[in-house]
Amino acid sequence: MTKRITVTLNNEIRSLAVEPSDILLDVLREVLGVKSPKIGCERGDCGACTILLDGKTVRSCLILAVEADGHEITTLEGLSQSGLTPVQQSLLKYNSFQCGFCAPGMVLSATELLGKNPSPSKDEVKEAISGNLCRCTGYEPIIDAIVAVGKKAGKRA
Ligand code: FES
Ligand code: FES
Repeated sequence: MTKRITVTLNNEIRSLAVEPSDILLDVLREVLGVKSPKIGCERGDCGACTILLDGKTVRSCLILAVEADGHEITTLEGLSQSGLTPVQQSLLKYNSFQCGFCAPGMVLSATELLGKNPSPSKDEVKEAISGNLCRCTGYEPIIDAIVAVGKKAGKRA
């Protein structure tokens, strides 16, 4: 039996019918047309499906769509509505990605971290992105780019 849920997706209220067993990742991609959360391991290991749920990173492959009812979802699409954020700009500057498959999850994890800790250390960045697997880069250009955002913010303060 379907259930009607309402979510705020990237600042827009969306109401839709879902099956009780529908996975949020699948609903985001296939029903709501949001493609930045990627289908990776589908068991919580890789972070490719990361979204912000009420401002906190979660793996959308581990959440039922019905559990998102009444909550606020932000994906990469929502983050960039007014242009690239400082963390995205820094990741670009540092050529942080190759294939880019991990990029949405990395950006959202970094965004959550910088929201709580505007000037994180390298170790704090490593910890924050530890749930996001990158097959391509060895992580260094990603970590350096995120640390650089914090350093810039520190100079401005
Ligand atoms: Fe969700 Fe890998 S697809 S953690
Ligand atoms: Fe390819 Fe990270 S850039 S997985």
